[in-house]
Amino acid sequence: MTAMIYPTTNPSATETMIVARGEGPYIYDHNGKQYLEGMAGLWCTSLGYGNQEIIEVAQQQMRDLSFSHMFGGKTHPAAIELADKLAAMAPMDDARVFLGASGSDANDTLVKLIRYYAVATGQPERVKIIAREKGYHGVTVASAALTGLPPNHTHFQLPFDALGVLRTGAPHYYRCAEDGETEADFVARRASELEALIIEEGPETIAAMIAEPVNGAGGVIVPPEGYFEAIQEVLDKYGIMLWDDEVICGFGRLGAAFGAEKYNLKPKMMACAKALTSAYVPLSAALVSGDIADAIAGPASDMGVFGHGYTYSGHPLGCAVASKVLDIYARDRLFEHAAEVGSYMGKRLGEFADHPLVGEVSAIGLLGALELVADKGSKRPFEGMKVGQFCAKAAEERGLIVRPLGGNRIALCPPLIIQNDHVDEIIDKLSGALADTLDMATAQKLI
Ligand SMILES: Cc1ncc(COP(=O)(O)O)c(C=O)c1O
Repeated sequence: MTAMIYPTTNPSATETMIVARGEGPYIYDHNGKQYLEGMAGLWCTSLGYGNQEIIEVAQQQMRDLSFSHMFGGKTHPAAIELADKLAAMAPMDDARVFLGASGSDANDTLVKLIRYYAVATGQPERVKIIAREKGYHGVTVASAALTGLPPNHTHFQLPFDALGVLRTGAPHYYRCAEDGETEADFVARRASELEALIIEEGPETIAAMIAEPVNGAGGVIVPPEGYFEAIQEVLDKYGIMLWDDEVICGFGRLGAAFGAEKYNLKPKMMACAKALTSAYVPLSAALVSGDIADAIAGPASDMGVFGHGYTYSGHPLGCAVASKVLDIYARDRLFEHAAEVGSYMGKRLGEFADHPLVGEVSAIGLLGALELVADKGSKRPFEGMKVGQFCAKAAEERGLIVRPLGGNRIALCPPLIIQNDHVDEIIDKLSGALADTLDMATAQKLI
């Protein structure tokens, strides 16, 4: 035991693995055992481990300028270059970029920008934000309030009302559809529920709706066809902004630069982190469209300062690494690669659809999940998270890292650099882990 309070960990089961090093898509524990990192760390190490080009850029940046802040008019070349690259890539009009260090702080920044923008545009009451059940947006006070997962809320006494957080349903057809409801009916119901919520609360009080293109930590929920078109139509009708949380989906995960491109979204705000630096160093970006930034600049200039900024906003190391990472994505056509290998992974994951424990297979790009159920026909779930956790542990014993999520869903999100033979390795090991889990569930009479 150390003095550490571990993040997102059961306090009575800490330190179950000591990770010592990484190379390509593999990590090694302190005993030298190799694991295929089927989760890219926490959905982030897109370029894998030990990339020499990135390491060299980082070393050079540390030598040239290890730190410079960006308060009060100071800036530096790495930040300017990165902001311009990001703005050019983002599927938004005249995107502007605010830099931070985590996905949570990017979303927190956007909560504050919404509130500032409301004042700047003379509608100070327009601050409410619609968030979805099963959404994950981080764990700072504001971003945790937007997150729609009970473990991130329970006991924390979050200020949902003060922040104006409204909740609408998850786009999860497998779990949330009513008996006999088709996918199209389900989509229409979600859109009309959203509209009813907006009307009940008063559209003039609602600024934005936050959504991940594909919910990650909530279970890798691939939205049904037509879902975002229907949602976007409702938002447009009431002048409510779409706030696109690209922290997992951004930078190739779904086989396109952004989830927004995959689903044809029209975001006014975006949050990016994780694969922005391939997690070599922490960096996040909160993006807003030019009209929002311009509206905010007015009152901030009158006051003499835009009073929001982190010590590490635009840290030179993060900016230099992110610039290099974006160059590598483009040069090596990694988003296209993710689409190709992702389609192979989706096909192979589909082979588990007939497994007695697997209720749902979700897959898009290099993202996937299996939901383990006690009864396939009735979709009866297992109690608690024990079965998913058992399966993840069994995979780990076989040298594969997967992540057990709520609802006994097993998530996969391998580095974008993997090849089809890595997919085969994932499938072989996962198949073994599922067999172990079936033996356990049978022995313990859970099925
Ligand atoms: C979609 C999404 N948004 C925000 C976050 C929060 O990012 P961070 O953990 O860097 O604060 C995460 C983290 O997993 C995420 O998946």
